[in-house]
Amino acid sequence: MPEYSPLTAAVRARIAEIPCLRLIDDPEKLEDFSRDGTPGLSHRPEIAVEATEAAAVQALLRLANERRFPVTPRGLGSGLAGGALPVRGGVVLSLARMNRIIAIEPRNMIAVVEPGVVNLDLKNAVAAQGLFYPPDPASLDTCSLGGNAATNAGGPACVKYGTTRDYILGLEAVLPNGELLAAGVQTRKGVVGYDLTRLIVGSEGTLGVITRLILRLIPRPAAVTTLVALFPRLVPAMEAVTKILLNGHTPSALEFLDRRCLELVGDLLPFPGVREAGAMLLIEADGDPERIQREIEQIGEICLDGGAADVLLAPDAQRRSRMWAVRKEVTQRIEERYPLDVHEDVVVPLGRIAELVACLPEYEAAHGMVVYSFGHAGDGNIHLNITADSPAAAPRVEAGVRQIVEKVLAMGGTMSGEHGVGIAKQRFLPLELSPESIRLQGEIKRLFDPNGILNPGKVFR
Ligand code: LAC
Ligand code: ZN
Repeated sequence: MPEYSPLTAAVRARIAEIPCLRLIDDPEKLEDFSRDGTPGLSHRPEIAVEATEAAAVQALLRLANERRFPVTPRGLGSGLAGGALPVRGGVVLSLARMNRIIAIEPRNMIAVVEPGVVNLDLKNAVAAQGLFYPPDPASLDTCSLGGNAATNAGGPACVKYGTTRDYILGLEAVLPNGELLAAGVQTRKGVVGYDLTRLIVGSEGTLGVITRLILRLIPRPAAVTTLVALFPRLVPAMEAVTKILLNGHTPSALEFLDRRCLELVGDLLPFPGVREAGAMLLIEADGDPERIQREIEQIGEICLDGGAADVLLAPDAQRRSRMWAVRKEVTQRIEERYPLDVHEDVVVPLGRIAELVACLPEYEAAHGMVVYSFGHAGDGNIHLNITADSPAAAPRVEAGVRQIVEKVLAMGGTMSGEHGVGIAKQRFLPLELSPESIRLQGEIKRLFDPNGILNPGKVFR
């Protein structure tokens, strides 16, 4: 493990001299930089800085190598794996103020942005020009595109449109040695050299600090339609999900809430019987109005054939956005209700979604824990919030979590579909990755960052 030097007054003074870099050492403000969206995790930086130009990031990283202090990059702090927390102290580097939309080029269908732009702000800006940027993490109104890129964020739209990575044509990143790297293209295609763009995207701020993104846009869908299907039981709901996809439908969202989630947020939903339902599917189709009307009706038929007790169309935009607000409220209500709440973010192959949720009651009983399952049924990405009423239950919950992760891997799945490893999932990494893969990835990290100054202690220990 690299040794770091403390941030002496002399080093702080050097940092303070870097142009376009604002130093923050007010204890109250540092508190804000010591947490992200992950419950129960907190690490305090010695100082934080806010950059407004890539050159400032370059100067900071050069100094970090010279004086051997760690730098932890941070977007807007909504991450769910502790990836932006300064576990080894040092400096938190906020990119929040590099938040300019540099260009939207409708004819080329691209946007060029700085990393601190809020996801929803870009969505709105491109929508005004008839364009669409699909990636939609649940935190879209508070998360940054740089953070989305660093974690290869996903969301409900992935089932049709893919993840953040699929929309990044190219990027500019400051490497740990302070050099500015331009990677990728601004064209629709490009195969020249190794794909450093796709390597840096999803590397959780361990290989470089993203300072600019070239994003692929698509035409804005003309309309969207929303359907809710209530099922008496969860397993048939998940079987319906697989059937919808196998029938050639391309919903733009295919989400679910289980019985426990419905108990928790059902009071907010305007459907009779929802609190007693075993599962709810929230399904959308987007595109040509006539086509999606037919498509959503056919999807509704599949749900009814598969045992749904009721299918309802969200009649207007207002009720549609209410449905989504409720879907997103689940996480918060679980956090408020349980002192112990472990977020897992597993993915299983499409054909095995029902099989995964079928074994959850068994794990709950065996380990004395309460598991809330919800999320992106349509791509097999199941959020499991594994909870207990007392922090003292942590050891048995941990055993249960491990068993679930092992089960997912045995099914051909992965432990994280969108939240990443950060520090929250490191302990399970050797269950999924081979020693050879871990060794090779460690070599890549050392090649980029020989002194280990950039986001140390993340992903790989
Ligand atoms: C969601 C977050 C937890 O989908 O990923 O709500
Ligand atoms: Zn999610």
